[in-house]
Amino acid sequence: MWEKKPILLLVLATCAIMVGTIVTMILPFAWVNTEADRIEGVTPYTALQQEGRDIYIRDGCNNCHTQTVRPLVPEVLRYGDYSKSGEFVYDRPFLWGSKRTGPDLARLGGKYPDAWHYKHMESPRSMVPKTNMPDYGWYSNNLLDPQMIQRKMETLGFPYTAEEIKDLEGKNDMDAMVAYLQKLGSDIPWRDAAETTIVGDLVNPYADANQETISGWAPIYADNCAACHGPNMEGEIGPELIGEDYDDEILFTIIYTGITDGGMPSFSNLGTDKVWKLTNYIRTYQAEGSQ
Ligand code: HEC
Ligand code: HEC
Repeated sequence: MWEKKPILLLVLATCAIMVGTIVTMILPFAWVNTEADRIEGVTPYTALQQEGRDIYIRDGCNNCHTQTVRPLVPEVLRYGDYSKSGEFVYDRPFLWGSKRTGPDLARLGGKYPDAWHYKHMESPRSMVPKTNMPDYGWYSNNLLDPQMIQRKMETLGFPYTAEEIKDLEGKNDMDAMVAYLQKLGSDIPWRDAAETTIVGDLVNPYADANQETISGWAPIYADNCAACHGPNMEGEIGPELIGEDYDDEILFTIIYTGITDGGMPSFSNLGTDKVWKLTNYIRTYQAEGSQ
């Protein structure tokens, strides 16, 4: 048969392999990056954000952080909407990564206020006591070089105006990194769509708790809230919490759902029980002024 005819076998085998190659390697080039794949609202990085991205690559943040949320329920619950291919059209190279020593950063933009990032990059342990992320405080001493972005722009064909490049003068690596982090995954309006809603009536289960029980809940506040609202609710990155007079329901809702676009994260992941404990803790604290 034809296995005894080497030339014919060669031709047939090549055809068989080519079919596989075309389907798995060549056609995808036609399928991705087409107009249909583009997402409205996804914009190129600004000059400042691009500088931040280059520092991210230079310092190997991708050795500890991924930048892609896979379409799996636990990932979406933890990080937010899964990543779409059209969100990466300006990523050269992409930074999806494969190692999560720290959390995924693909949906980071808008999660925290700028001030949180400045403090966290300066000293991650000041915001998250047990983290093993290194300090990057020296970023504040490294001024950006507008000449460099000019050259990158010419090589990569990015659309920066002379004015935008001039604006980099006086900015440092830290400013660039924070600008970049705030851009991540925020081009599509997923945060509004994902806003947590509370189902059912809100009834405070700890309305009768005594003073001693309530003060035992201090660690929940210290672990989750102190970094932004100060150890004594005096306010820092977030506003002062003493002196406000919210009722139980409003306070519970603010903590549980967060304030979208206000830089106050949602704490629904703590579960309703802990959020009620915090609600009572804050209200008692407010009534007393200080402890
Ligand atoms: C040795 C591993 C490691 C390296 C390197 C590292 N990180 Fe992290 N990062 C972590 C860990 C662990 C956390 C989780 C605790 C925390 O918030 O610090 C984290 C958290 C973060 C967060 C907060 C994410 C969130 O959703 O709360 C940001 C932002 C971040 N890292 C940015 C960076 C940047 C930018 C770099 C590079 C300059 C970097 N990291 C390098 C380990 C690392
Ligand atoms: C990443 C920083 C951050 C963390 C962590 C954080 N908050 Fe906030 N919080 C904010 C910011 C910023 C605001 C102001 C949002 C706005 O008004 O737009 C705010 C607002 C609030 C408000 C409304 C205050 C007012 O005057 O309007 C309450 C109540 C509150 N936070 C409680 C908490 C509690 C309880 C925790 C811990 C479970 C917590 N926050 C954790 C940043 C944070």
